Amino acid sequence: MDIHSRIIGCGSYLPGNPITNHMLEEKIDTSDEWIKTRTGISQRHYAGDDEFTSDMAIIAAERAINHAGIDSSEIDLIVVGTTTPDRTFPATAVRLQKALGCKTGAAFDVQAVCSGFIYAISIVNSMIKTKQCKKALVVGADTLSRLLNWEDRTTCVLFGDGAGAVVLEANREGANGTKSGIISTHIHSDGNYEDLLYCDGGPSTNQKSGFIKMEGKEVFRHAVNNLAAVVQEILDKNKLKSEEIDWLVPHQANRRIIESTAKKLKMPLSKVILTVDKHANTSAASIPLALDYAIKKNKIKSGDLVLMEAMGGGLTWGASLVRM
Ligand code: ACO
Repeated sequence: MDIHSRIIGCGSYLPGNPITNHMLEEKIDTSDEWIKTRTGISQRHYAGDDEFTSDMAIIAAERAINHAGIDSSEIDLIVVGTTTPDRTFPATAVRLQKALGCKTGAAFDVQAVCSGFIYAISIVNSMIKTKQCKKALVVGADTLSRLLNWEDRTTCVLFGDGAGAVVLEANREGANGTKSGIISTHIHSDGNYEDLLYCDGGPSTNQKSGFIKMEGKEVFRHAVNNLAAVVQEILDKNKLKSEEIDWLVPHQANRRIIESTAKKLKMPLSKVILTVDKHANTSAASIPLALDYAIKKNKIKSGDLVLMEAMGGGLTWGASLVRM
């Protein structure tokens, strides 16, 4: 019988108090009205000065493990999607391994910017299917506030910090052949568009962490096209009609991009999980944060068919289809 990976627990964490658009009006030349109209964002959270990506990831991971009802010592793989590791090396994932008391298996980070969680899920799913691990922790965690240039109002209003995590477990196909868990994952990248969205720092270039640079309009155009394409790819591969999807859990970058993907899917917004207004763009954390929000609000339930999708710097993009 085939081995599948099933999501058995979910958790998330947002740091500090919300920072509203009105609070940003005090700091830079912007307005609540501009930010809301262009992006749908009302507020975001920022990590405290002494709060790191690993600190947020550990709390989200503990909540996911608790929700799964397992002991952290059972985890034999930890993969963290992040663009903002605590240190250039080693991986943030090994800090989680130590904090959670996991002694077996491997821990590593995945760098795919806002697609980091989808990339991490895709890798871990393959490793579970090939019997390289049995219980894995997949985390998306980012402190993009550390990469914001407060002289660039076109980018600094868009991002926030946070972490989300899921526990995946190796699961045998149901007796009647019904597939539960992760059904399909699809990841893509196109390095020709690297300069549309990047951070102008790095250990091998200027030894700085740098600031976010983005050609907003071009990124927007690619996001709308690439997300529509990958969503169609996943539907075709699984011979599904969009009406059969119960929930869309998109990367939360911009409400207009999300609405455009939902429209292409002919999916009413009532079936789309929207947290961008409260969280802003938390990069790799945005999908697991939205997923956890929807599970805890009793929107997404066991048996639901959930489609997750993201696009980020690279450009990278991807989608994952999951039966909860
Ligand atoms: N407040 C007030 N005015 C602003 C602000 C601001 N924060 N930022 C820009 N403006 C002004 C501009 O200066 C410009 O003024 P002008 O016409 O007088 O020159 C005007 O608003 C329009 O600016 P545009 O850049 O044309 O605005 P646009 O409608 O393209 O919206 C935005 C910008 C929101 C960034 C949009 O392009 C976008 O969402 N892009 C995609 C971002 C995204 O999805 N990223 C995902 C990946 S992120 C990752 O991977 C890390």
